[in-house]
Amino acid sequence: MKTILGIESSCDETAAAVVSRGTEILSSVVASQIKVHAPFGGVVPELASRKHLESIAPVVEQALEDAGISRDQIDGVAVTRGPGLVGALLVGFSFAKAYAFALDVPWVGVNHLLGHIHSVLMSPSPPEFPFAALLVSGGHTSIYKVSSRTDMEVMGQTRDDAAGEAFDKVSKAMGLGYPGGEIISKLAESGDPHKISFPRSWLDKKKFDFSFSGIKTAVGRYMQVHEDSWHDEKADIAASFQEAVVEVLATKLINAAKSIGCPRVAVAGGVAANACLRDRVTQLAAKAGMSVHLPDISLCGDNAAMIAAAGYYKLAAGERSPLNMDVFSRMEKL
Ligand code: KG4
Ligand code: ZN
Repeated sequence: MKTILGIESSCDETAAAVVSRGTEILSSVVASQIKVHAPFGGVVPELASRKHLESIAPVVEQALEDAGISRDQIDGVAVTRGPGLVGALLVGFSFAKAYAFALDVPWVGVNHLLGHIHSVLMSPSPPEFPFAALLVSGGHTSIYKVSSRTDMEVMGQTRDDAAGEAFDKVSKAMGLGYPGGEIISKLAESGDPHKISFPRSWLDKKKFDFSFSGIKTAVGRYMQVHEDSWHDEKADIAASFQEAVVEVLATKLINAAKSIGCPRVAVAGGVAANACLRDRVTQLAAKAGMSVHLPDISLCGDNAAMIAAAGYYKLAAGERSPLNMDVFSRMEKL
């Protein structure tokens, strides 16, 4: 069991990758659907499923070609089972089952969030266990105590919006487009992060839950109150919003690591690509004497290499998924 084909279709990226021994990425193809959903300002589930159907076979073929291998060199298939959009998940999931069945190799369903955690573990110098991991994406914002590749415990999570979702909604409210994370962070580079004091939602300071719906509302209110002038302040709004979100995320991650007496922190998920968040976590960790583990930017957003890596360890441990296994839309446990 060496060469794993990974497949990911949980949201708006159709992705396939070939990974050797859980760490060596031989290929990673990500077909983004941004152009399909951009006119609607967000992901349209039905369109996502249709686009996955069109893309899945060519994307898998491309991954094999880029890796320079043929189908008969695949030892196993790993595919995202959930959480995500059910119709979107079903495309990759059904394809993976059929592909593995046709090749007569084992396959395994992988939790998407476990995949994101593996994006950290794939680095040349992965953290020792245990470590505290902030998983921050468009659908999730949680802190985990990661004790092994299979043992992860939720220490805190968002009670409402995910941080990435807040970036997307603020971008949409300012008419800047989708997906918002990259747009807001680019715009923030030319803004003053201390110009507007948006509220930090600390909740219970000793706990590690988050809430981001308030700041989204606060940005909307600011735009209403400054209806004549906010257009000239877009960069300051973006920078001040980003600052408020990043401060809470980074501080809670470091505090979570302290609470378990563990000097190692990691960040994963689409928002882990945010330069301000990467810098802040690095700064605070250095101050606290902790090591920081950040995935390569190419592995932050949804990709299939992280799914292949997570699946490799499951398959190597003897786990096999049955052909009647179904996808899931929501699940707390990894
Ligand atoms: O992990 P991901 O690709 O998909 C999910 O599993 O949700 O994360 C996508 C999210 C989106 O909300 C996107 O706006 C956000 O990650 N994102 C960013 C940045 N790049 C992507 N947020 C802030 N700053 C970025 N540079
Ligand atoms: Zn994701």
